[in-house]
Amino acid sequence: MKYILTLALLAAPFVTAQHASTLDGKAKAKGKYFGTATDAGLLSSSSNSNIIKTEFGQVSPENSMKWDATEPSQNSFSFGNADTLVSFAQTNGKTVRGHTLVWHSQLPSWVSAITSATTLTSVMQNHIATLAGRFKGKIYAWDVVNEVFEENGTFRNSVFYKLLGEQFIDIAFKAAAAADPSAKLCINDYNLDGPGSKIDALIALVGRLQSRGVPIHCIGSQSHLILGQVGGVKAQLQRLADTGLDVMITELDIRIPLSVTTAKLAQQQTDFQTVVSACTSITKCLGVTVWGVSDKDSWVDSTFPTYDSPLLWDDNFAKKPAYTGALAGI
Ligand code: XIL
Repeated sequence: MKYILTLALLAAPFVTAQHASTLDGKAKAKGKYFGTATDAGLLSSSSNSNIIKTEFGQVSPENSMKWDATEPSQNSFSFGNADTLVSFAQTNGKTVRGHTLVWHSQLPSWVSAITSATTLTSVMQNHIATLAGRFKGKIYAWDVVNEVFEENGTFRNSVFYKLLGEQFIDIAFKAAAAADPSAKLCINDYNLDGPGSKIDALIALVGRLQSRGVPIHCIGSQSHLILGQVGGVKAQLQRLADTGLDVMITELDIRIPLSVTTAKLAQQQTDFQTVVSACTSITKCLGVTVWGVSDKDSWVDSTFPTYDSPLLWDDNFAKKPAYTGALAGI
């Protein structure tokens, strides 16, 4: 007994030190997680997957669980890439944030062409039951609805809102709860990082959902940010947490206006520390997910052509100053 105890005492500091040197290891020590987005194609690169295995505790499917990938034509489901992602996670002990059940984007045209509220309701319920049902018990949290608001705080005029009004959100959460009762169910959106109509509208909606007894557990703040514009993150994250729900930073990246300089990379280090420490310091913030590993694979290149280098590893999979900033923020 004495011998075993001595061994345990000797081993403990070593284990702690080893874990504290990775993003997720340090996050876990604080009761949180640190994750990244990826998918089958990226996982087939060993530079990429080795970093994920070492540094991250959670993965989000960058595209493989979206409607166009999972139900490209009505009631014809394809789960190949989603299955790959989930089995990678299970093999390597990572949790999965499911992304996403109902979203206006990457939505097949057969869904946007629906004109009957009754049809759309059963289509949504079937999609959610099938997708969330397939991965039942394997998903830590689902982004049940994504990006339902315009910047001015009005509801986005998606086919879902047009035909069903705000009730489409209730329908989606109830269907998700029925399909996977153990997953945390989140509403997810971007530009919740500063004060304004959008975050006000989201907080008001959460209050209405809570008062109607809708099973909602968390708010995801995507946090696709711009260099030097991160000062509002902590206060807004706190406002989201004050709803009583859990909060998560779900798609963090901090893009640099071209051209990239050493000074800007140093600013990015500070910015990552600021954003990550906002989550660390808020009890109800459960974790942070960055939207990819290497700058070379980021969606920013094609989406925001005048910006670059938004992630923690550079084009050659070398750690950037931003990595040091993120680690320091945990
Ligand atoms: C992006 C992916 O990163 C790209 O590969 C894809 O072409 C478009 O979608 N908000 C979201 C994510 O919720 O799903 C988006 O991901 C980025 C913005």
